[in-house]
Amino acid sequence: MHTAKNFALGLLAAAAVATASDVTQLKTDTFDEFVKTNDIVLAEFFAPWCGHCKALAPEYEEAATSLKEKDIKLAKIDCTEEAELCQKHGVEGYPTLKVFRGPDNVSPYKGQRKAAAITSYMIKQSLPAVSLLTKDTLEEFKKADKVVIVAYIDAADKASNETFGKIAEKLRDNYPFGASNDAALAEAEGVTAPAIVLYKDFDEGKAVFTEKFDVEAIEKFTKTAAIPLIGEVGPETYSDYMSSGLPLAYIFAETPEERKEISELLKPIAEAQRGVVNFATIDAKAFGAHAGNLNLKTDKFPAFAIQETVKNQKFPFDQEKAITLEAIKAFVDDFVSGKVDPSIKSEPIPEDNSGPVKVVVAKNYNDVVLDDTKDVLIEFYAPWCGHCKSLAPKYEELGALYAKSEFKDQVVIAKVDATANDVPDEIQGFPTIKLYAAGAKSEPVTYSGARTVEDLIKFISENGKYKASVIEETTEASAAPAATESPAAEEAAKEDHDEL
Ligand SMILES: *[C@@H]1O[C@H](CO)[C@@H](O)[C@H](O)[C@H]1NC(C)=O
Repeated sequence: MHTAKNFALGLLAAAAVATASDVTQLKTDTFDEFVKTNDIVLAEFFAPWCGHCKALAPEYEEAATSLKEKDIKLAKIDCTEEAELCQKHGVEGYPTLKVFRGPDNVSPYKGQRKAAAITSYMIKQSLPAVSLLTKDTLEEFKKADKVVIVAYIDAADKASNETFGKIAEKLRDNYPFGASNDAALAEAEGVTAPAIVLYKDFDEGKAVFTEKFDVEAIEKFTKTAAIPLIGEVGPETYSDYMSSGLPLAYIFAETPEERKEISELLKPIAEAQRGVVNFATIDAKAFGAHAGNLNLKTDKFPAFAIQETVKNQKFPFDQEKAITLEAIKAFVDDFVSGKVDPSIKSEPIPEDNSGPVKVVVAKNYNDVVLDDTKDVLIEFYAPWCGHCKSLAPKYEELGALYAKSEFKDQVVIAKVDATANDVPDEIQGFPTIKLYAAGAKSEPVTYSGARTVEDLIKFISENGKYKASVIEETTEASAAPAATESPAAEEAAKEDHDEL
C-alpha cells in the first residue's frame, strides 16, 4: 500500500514537472500580494471535484500560456483549501471567474470558457477603454479583433471625446475601442473628424459613422454594423441578436454546405434589409429544438422564420413551401410592412370545459383570463414539471371548492400548458400562479406563498375583487416549499440537444 501510494505521488510530481503551468495557484497568504503587483489578473475560484472546473482546466492553461507575453496573469484558487478567501470574494458556485485590476477593482468574467475566448476577453480588459492611436499603431489595432471601433476626433473636441468614452466604457467587453486626433490619419481613412470607423474582418470590411456624436445613435450604429450581413446564431451570438432591438430572420439548415448555399441565395434580401432585419443561419442539427420556439416544426429542414425580438412574436415561413429568393423576399417584405400576423401557438379550445379547473389555451386566453367580471386564478404549468404534478390534486380541490360555492360565477380557477400555448405572460419557472382580479386585469398579482389549498384561498380572498373565501374541508398537514422548475432544468435533464 505504502509503496503504491509513494509510486503514485512520484508519478504526480513527475507530471507536474513535465507540464510547468502558466496558471499561478494562489493561497490566502499570497493572493493579495499577487493582485496588487500585477496590473490585471483573471482568477478562477474552483473546487477539485467540480466537473465544469475540470473541463475548463486545459482551456485555462492554454489561455494562460498565450497571455503570458502580454503580461496578463491567470490564477486559480482551490476553494476547498481556501474557504475563507473564497467566501470573502463572494464565491457561490464553481468555477467563479473574476477579473482583478488591483485588489479593489473587481469585475465578473463574462466571456466563454474556451481558451480563445478567454484570451481575447482578457486582452480587451487589459487595454484602456479607449486606446489612443497613432499612425504607427492604427494598422495593428485594426486587426486586434473581428470588430474594432475607432473614433477620429479633433484634440479640442471635448464633447465628442467624452461621448465616445462613455460608449467605450459600456461596450468594452464586446469590442476594442481606439481613438486618434491626427487629422492626417482621418483623411487617409476618408473621413473628417468627428467620425467613427468600425473595422470588421467580414463582409465589406468597414462601416462609417459621420453623424453628430450621440450615445444612442452611436450604439445603434455599432450594433448594426458589427453584426455580419448573414451571421450564425449560436450560444455565443444569441444574446447579441436578442439585444440588438432588430427582428431576427433565421435560416435553419442541417449542414454547413446547405447553410452557405441558402445564405448566398438570400443575400440580396439581407442586404436590402440591413439595419431593419438581421439575418443569420442556425445549425438545425444542434439547435433544431429552437425551431419549436418559433412555431416551426422541428423535423422539417431547411426552414425559415422571423422573430420580432422586442415583443417576442414569431413569424414562421410555411414549411410546406420551398425556400426561394422570390418567396422569402415577399415574406420578408410583408413582414416589414406589417402584413404578416404573428403565429400564435395554441392547443384547440376544449369542447367540454366544464370541469372545476378551466382549461385555458392561447385561443381562449383573452375570453377566460381577461374576463373583467371575474377573478381568475391561473396556473402556468409544463407537462414535465414535477412541482406542477404534485400541485395538481390540490388545485383540482381548490377548483371544486369554488365551483360549488356561492362564488361559482365570480371566481375562475384555471390552468394553461405554457409549453403548448403562446401566452402574453413572461414565465420564469413552473408552476407560476397569477390572479387576474376583476376590474384590475392590467395588474395581475403573482402568487408566492406555499402551494396549499388553504393559502391559495387566502390569496384569492385577499387579492380578488369579490373577497371570495371558501371553507376547506380538510386541513393540510404541511406546506410544500414553493420551488419552481425552470425550462433550463428540463433542457439539462434531456440533454439531447444544445441550448441557446
Ligand atoms: C480624449 O480625452 C482624453 C482625456 O482628456 C485624452 O487623454 C485623449 O487624448 C483624448 N482623445 C483624443 C482622440 O484626442
